[in-house]
Amino acid sequence: MKKQPKPLFFILLFIILFSQSVLSVDFVFNGFNSTNLLLYGIANIDSRILTLTNETSFVVGRALYRSKIPTKTPNSSHALPFSTSFIFSMAPSRNKDTLPGHGLVFIFTPNTGINGTSSSQHLGLFNLTNNGNPKNHVFGVEFDVFANQEFDDIDDNHVGIDINSLKSESSHTAGYWPDNIKSSSNSNNSNGDEQAFKVVKLNSGKNYQVWIDYADSVINVTIAPVESKRPKRPLLNVSLNLSDVFEDEMYVGFTSSTGRLVESHRILAWSFSNSNFSLSESLITTGLPSFAIRRTPFYKHRSFIAGVTLGSFFSLVFIGLFSLFLIKRERRRARDRAEMEDWEFEYWPHKMTFQEIDAATKGFLEENVIGVGGNGKVYKGVLSGGTEIAVKRVSHENDGMREFLAEISSLGRLKHRSLVGLKGWCKKEKGTFMLIYDYMENGSLDKRVYYDCDESKMLSYEDRIRILKDVASALLYLHEGWEAKVLHRDIKASNVLLDKDMNGRLGDFGLARMHGHSQVASTTRVVGTVGYLAPEVVRSGRASTKTDVFGFGVLILEVMCGRRPIEEGKPPLVDWVWQLMVQGELLAAVDARLRASGGFDEEEVEKVLHLGLLCSYPHPDSRPTIRQVVKVLEGKNEPFESETEDMEAYLLAKVKSRDMWANYAQNFGNASHPTFDDIRQSHYSSMSLSWTNTIVEGR
Ligand SMILES: Nc1ncnc2c1ncn2[C@@H]1O[C@H](COP(=O)(O)OP(=O)(O)O)[C@@H](O)[C@H]1O
Ligand SMILES: *[C@@H]1O[C@H](CO)[C@@H](O)[C@H](O)[C@H]1NC(C)=O
Ligand SMILES: *[C@@H]1O[C@H](CO)[C@@H](O)[C@H](O)[C@H]1NC(C)=O
Ligand SMILES: *[C@@H]1O[C@H](CO)[C@@H](O)[C@H](O)[C@H]1NC(C)=O
Ligand SMILES: *[C@@H]1O[C@H](CO)[C@@H](O)[C@H](O)[C@H]1NC(C)=O
Ligand SMILES: *[C@@H]1O[C@H](CO)[C@@H](O)[C@H](O)[C@H]1NC(C)=O
Ligand SMILES: *[C@@H]1O[C@H](CO)[C@@H](O)[C@H](O)[C@H]1NC(C)=O
Ligand SMILES: *[C@@H]1O[C@H](CO)[C@@H](O)[C@H](O)[C@H]1NC(C)=O
Ligand SMILES: *[C@@H]1O[C@H](CO)[C@@H](O)[C@H](O)[C@H]1NC(C)=O
Ligand SMILES: *[C@@H]1O[C@H](CO)[C@@H](O)[C@H](O)[C@H]1NC(C)=O
Ligand SMILES: *[C@@H]1O[C@H](CO)[C@@H](O)[C@H](O)[C@H]1NC(C)=O
Repeated sequence: MKKQPKPLFFILLFIILFSQSVLSVDFVFNGFNSTNLLLYGIANIDSRILTLTNETSFVVGRALYRSKIPTKTPNSSHALPFSTSFIFSMAPSRNKDTLPGHGLVFIFTPNTGINGTSSSQHLGLFNLTNNGNPKNHVFGVEFDVFANQEFDDIDDNHVGIDINSLKSESSHTAGYWPDNIKSSSNSNNSNGDEQAFKVVKLNSGKNYQVWIDYADSVINVTIAPVESKRPKRPLLNVSLNLSDVFEDEMYVGFTSSTGRLVESHRILAWSFSNSNFSLSESLITTGLPSFAIRRTPFYKHRSFIAGVTLGSFFSLVFIGLFSLFLIKRERRRARDRAEMEDWEFEYWPHKMTFQEIDAATKGFLEENVIGVGGNGKVYKGVLSGGTEIAVKRVSHENDGMREFLAEISSLGRLKHRSLVGLKGWCKKEKGTFMLIYDYMENGSLDKRVYYDCDESKMLSYEDRIRILKDVASALLYLHEGWEAKVLHRDIKASNVLLDKDMNGRLGDFGLARMHGHSQVASTTRVVGTVGYLAPEVVRSGRASTKTDVFGFGVLILEVMCGRRPIEEGKPPLVDWVWQLMVQGELLAAVDARLRASGGFDEEEVEKVLHLGLLCSYPHPDSRPTIRQVVKVLEGKNEPFESETEDMEAYLLAKVKSRDMWANYAQNFGNASHPTFDDIRQSHYSSMSLSWTNTIVEGR
């Protein structure tokens, strides 16, 4: 809809008022040049626009006014008032596969440079160590587009006031209360002079103006689209004494960061004053370039009259077709409704009643809870016939019910000795389901392999290998053994359950999705668990069979090394094992208790670890298929890719080749495995996060 941006005529006003006192600083930048600012990180000035970050990942950009400004009356506790205004744009990447992140902050800081800051969720403001330290003397107003749990962020589009910490003192969803237009008679507001709150989407790429005013220990923050006038009511109006935060003189400016998720953060104009609270009116708000993502206009051509004529004609045809379509759809829906009942009977002879389940679990007794998963609690129960069951509660929104039922109906037909059997289902009320599984006597694998697990529960080497084989065969069945390709999508130790004979059984199909064999298996929802998620899933949200192979690779390493994939203060498991291999000390990765207990074939252990590394290789094409994995685990050495090489030799060569390592390090470096935040932040709108780190879908 927008016309080409006009040539930009930025007018620069640079005023320094020495009149009152040396404490007074005023400046107005309608566009920047490099003499105005100090730039750090990848911040850069181009066409008079300050670009804090472009679409490069894991970077920080910071720009500060070229010199310190007085912020306190010297040797007193009186923080000086200030008033600042700026126009910013946060534009997501044009590449649709990349998700936008992370935000920008207006700051006062005692130091130049970006030492002590990190990218991603730390916004280039602090790092893991100094976040929250009162010695930072940093004040910031954040414009954050992610909900970071550890910082108690309220949502993924908020404005917050930060003092020495990314945990905001006060925050609010970004938006404004437009002043009431007197003439509008349809308003009901009897006494207020403002209309309902309007949310603004910070990272839409649109230009927004912000006003931050501080005086008499009250700070006001206001934001509005650049084309509207300043709303009277501020978004944030907070009592705040900055005298302990400010040093006598501080640098003032902006900082921002990207992570795996990227967006361009730009500042188009900026005014600052600690004497004249009207200076913000000097910002030029018209003729600014727009970085908003433009939709292709649907009316573009010059033959306007012809268009209108044709348009009317087609409208008629369209209305006709549309009515037909509606009628057909209604018929189809009616038919579908009938069909649904049919297949419910066909595949679900064991649709259970709530009363049955309630009785089996003794009214969902707390004592019967055997585990807590991403969706809720798992209960043990005994059916009237004596059969032991595990009952898992699942919440699902009503409109996805049909799809969900279809899915569990199909999953109910999946039968394999290494899959946890799905016995039935039960619907309680709208959106709440229970899935009934076979009860697995020996619980889940995660309780029996880690270095900190109970000695008595620890699994032997043979058990571990056998369980890995079981899981691989279950996965092969899901990928290839059925009429549709089923991705498990959440392979992890807590989803591997052990039956009474200590056989491994893959469970939890709550997250799986069906794909016809011919279809490309892709989806735009991220599901899975941190530490097991392949990089490509985080990047693009697309899962494939190779994503499951990745998860299985992590599982192999985990089971052999007795370590969780991500542990505080340690490198990610995969990176760690890979390093040890490069150093020629692969066996040092194996669980110490396992090594001490002896009785394993070093050669075989190495082979299994190599397999784990290959499966969890960052690039999906370099990972083997699950069929190949099963063959290696079964000890069958078949020709692979090239006729001459057997598979084991191929794997070894591939894993050991220096090229591969160099490629790994270069492409993936420290960022090879997505962090909790990257994942949490990707696809933020369609997910909710549970405390167990499992990402579950929320339609
Ligand atoms: N069929 C079962 N038999 C016995 N225990 C189970 C069964 N299913 C789940 N559990 C227990 O409940 C825990 C949580 O299960 P689940 O909800 O599948 O986890 P998540 O949501 O993290 O994948 C498991 O770790 C396991 O200890
Ligand atoms: C930058 O702006 C200042 C005034 O703000 C001006 O004096 C200076 O000449 C400009 N420099 C360039 C390179 O345009
Ligand atoms: C981002 O900016 C940096 C430095 O300003 C530049 O080297 C890089 O090529 C830019 N990247 C993109 C994707 O524009
Ligand atoms: C502030 O205090 C320091 C030492 O405490 C002193 O040197 C300085 O002169 C004082 N400045 C003013 C403006 O009083
Ligand atoms: C930042 O840290 C680097 C190395 O740790 C050091 O060389 C540099 O001088 C520091 N910069 C500032 C501004 O402190
Ligand atoms: C954070 O920054 C400080 C100061 O530069 C540094 O000493 C510390 O090691 C950094 N912490 C992390 C986790 O990077
Ligand atoms: C105005 O208020 C009345 C009663 O409070 C309500 O019924 C009506 O829907 C409101 N109208 C508008 C336009 O908000
Ligand atoms: C903040 O906003 C309130 C309410 O609009 C206003 O009364 C106050 O003067 C403002 N304070 C500053 C420092 O602008
Ligand atoms: C803003 O804050 C001040 C002080 O906290 C308070 O007196 C005033 O009523 C607030 N104004 C609004 C509009 O909330
Ligand atoms: C702000 O805090 C300082 C010391 O913490 C105190 O001396 C000063 O009076 C406070 N200012 C206001 C306006 O409350
Ligand atoms: C404050 O700034 C406004 C806008 O630039 C200007 O019109 C006004 O004269 C200034 N007031 C003072 C006292 O400098």
